[in-house]
Amino acid sequence: MKKSRIGVLTGGGDCAGLNPAIKWVVKTALDERLEEERGVRYEVLGIRDGWKGLVYAEPGSKDYILPLNEEVVRTWGRHGGTALGTSRTNPYDPKNDQSKTVLKNIKNLGLDVVIAIGGEDTLGVAHKLYQEGVNAIGIPKTIDKDLPGTDYTLGFDTALNVITEEVDRLRTTADSHRRIFVVETMGRHAGFLALEGGESSGAFIILIPEYGFSIDRVNELLLEGKRTGARYSIVIVAEGAKPEGGSEVVAGDGVDSFGHKSLGGIGEFLAGEIRKGLGLDTRSVVLSHLQRGGAPSAFDRRMGRHFGIAAVDLVVKGDFGKLVSLTNGKVAAVPLEVVTEKPRSVNVETEYDAGRYNGRRTILAD
Ligand code: F6P
Repeated sequence: MKKSRIGVLTGGGDCAGLNPAIKWVVKTALDERLEEERGVRYEVLGIRDGWKGLVYAEPGSKDYILPLNEEVVRTWGRHGGTALGTSRTNPYDPKNDQSKTVLKNIKNLGLDVVIAIGGEDTLGVAHKLYQEGVNAIGIPKTIDKDLPGTDYTLGFDTALNVITEEVDRLRTTADSHRRIFVVETMGRHAGFLALEGGESSGAFIILIPEYGFSIDRVNELLLEGKRTGARYSIVIVAEGAKPEGGSEVVAGDGVDSFGHKSLGGIGEFLAGEIRKGLGLDTRSVVLSHLQRGGAPSAFDRRMGRHFGIAAVDLVVKGDFGKLVSLTNGKVAAVPLEVVTEKPRSVNVETEYDAGRYNGRRTILAD
């Protein structure tokens, strides 16, 4: 029977949902019942640490290659993070282009297909490799949910659950002490996590990168809340949010090999402005990497499973250069090139109430 070798890797920030996707790539590819009708026997190699693994993996490398079978991945569906490891290595980094080494290693490892699970950076590399002749397929993940071409990215739902649970925890202490809590979420330049996390947790104010906020308006809303009897308030602010006319708060000077600055600090800045403006007891909490941690939610387990199965369906069809997506509620496939388009962001017109700094209050109105 014909043989074919699939390499699978996870790149970029880790999150919940990666392990279920890997598990189902393996289970579907190695499914003996399907082998006869496919006429192909697949083998799956896990590549460790994202694209870094393909820079350093030589045939037989134990450090960067993990042969995967049903026994190895059996319990992975319920585990967070990525059992393969990840990195933000960019083989096409103009300062250190290692793409030729990656292409050589793909050939030397005998990989017929590479399935990359990642966000815009990891999948951008997959797309470039596809253009250079690699049979690449992408599976979308990022807690930021900003990847173009898909309505869902693995990890987002679990991160929303973390935000909701942590805000629930803050409420009891905020109420006890009559405090304002500013909660900083991740999301980079997109406000999906903050907006949807704020809606799920019932935050009083939600600030997103897509809409520059006025500190005076934030303080006015908080006073209004206090006047109408609120003992405490929760303000959710996305790490990429900025005061109108201001700029994003950056943590440190460095950039990663894809050129991204590390964001962080807007929560503490805003808490300071509220203390200054209103003289109220205000604290800030940065949820940070807690949002990426923990076991995957039921939705991320199922979506990981379906995305993994769909990726193997594409392999079987020989339909390469595709991104598995969720489109209008259905698992589909779109050209991988879509990941090079502008990242998705919150539509302020239809999804945000810029007067209240919160989620919209009309949904079915014209
Ligand atoms: O893209 C996912 C993300 O979690 C962003 O929301 C955040 O800005 C960034 O990664 C943090 O990355 P790191 O793990 O490198 O600190």
